[in-house]
Amino acid sequence: MMEKVLITGGAGFIGSHLAEKLLGEGKEVFILDNFSTGSRVNLEPIKDHPRLHVKPGDISDKPLLVELAGKADMIFHMAAAVGVKLIVEKPVNTIETNIIGTENVLKAASETGNKKLVLASTSEVYGKGTEKKFHEEDDLIFGSTTHSRWSYGCSKAIDEFLALAYHRSQGLPVIIVRLFNTVGPRQVGDYGMVVPRFVQQAINGDPICVYGDGKQVRCFTHVNDVVNALCLLADNEECVGQIFNVGNDDPVTIKKLAEKVRKIVNPNATIKHISYQKAYGAGFEDIRVRRPDISKLLKAIEYTPKAGLNDIIQDVKDHLLSDLTP
Ligand SMILES: NC(=O)c1ccc[n+]([C@@H]2O[C@H](COP(=O)([O-])OP(=O)(O)OC[C@H]3O[C@@H](n4cnc5c(N)ncnc54)[C@H](O)[C@@H]3O)[C@@H](O)[C@H]2O)c1
Repeated sequence: MMEKVLITGGAGFIGSHLAEKLLGEGKEVFILDNFSTGSRVNLEPIKDHPRLHVKPGDISDKPLLVELAGKADMIFHMAAAVGVKLIVEKPVNTIETNIIGTENVLKAASETGNKKLVLASTSEVYGKGTEKKFHEEDDLIFGSTTHSRWSYGCSKAIDEFLALAYHRSQGLPVIIVRLFNTVGPRQVGDYGMVVPRFVQQAINGDPICVYGDGKQVRCFTHVNDVVNALCLLADNEECVGQIFNVGNDDPVTIKKLAEKVRKIVNPNATIKHISYQKAYGAGFEDIRVRRPDISKLLKAIEYTPKAGLNDIIQDVKDHLLSDLTP
């Protein structure tokens, strides 16, 4: 991989783990973050590293982006408005950050010498598709624009179109990664992320609140496995111009997840069901099954997820009980 790397959103959950890994590999790392959902605390383990440069700022700041992209050999674009709850509460911010912000990053990468760019997209782009496993070439099926939760997936789909357009028209070397539910230390439950929310509820002795019937299916991947996959993809020239699902093909229902959290974190905790309407407001639609087809990823890189769901829950618990939370 290249030697100097810019991570937008590098103070966030995934970005901070990525920064740690890249520094460990001897890279020089530049972080641009507005600390909206990210935190200085996430950078605590690396804050004094001589090869780390943290620039507080926003991806709406085009001159700053050009300055930082100019210093880097490649870019991981992780900054985004993330999480279903945040998206429902701040729809304008989601659309602007994810579309205009990403265009600014792509432009800066292009203007500073066509820097390689890994774009963090999401499984949410599959919308409410009903495939048993989502494949990169599947149709994207969104709900009505009157339901703001689709603005997240839709905005990321536009990002993908834009990135591929820059690749085709200007030769920008982009790699698009559709991340499925990524979990681990430093993820916060405030924005609707289910694993840290369940673990925190169990630690507090509160009921573990399952939204809906709990039969919805997800696949969870440890952030360390995701970050490894991102670095391997970035290193493989054949991945340029392509889209990859990144995740774990190990399905679990949300009800089963709640039971596992109870067992590992607090056997006395109760499990309570509440409606989506109560959690997210009227008209909220969830996706029943979200599971990746990772055959393309497995062909491209040597990828074997190391952590299972029990390890993930344990790591999240240890983190929430440490003093390294914002
Ligand atoms: N965590 C997951 O399960 C998951 C799943 C799919 C996709 N993703 C994608 O991965 C990326 C990272 O997500 P995460 O889970 O680490 O979330 P996160 O919220 O922890 O990270 C996002 C970071 O971007 C920063 N940011 C937001 N808006 C910004 C702006 N305008 N300018 C500069 N910085 C800004 C935030 O402060 C934060 O540090 C996002 O693009 C997200 O869409 C994450």
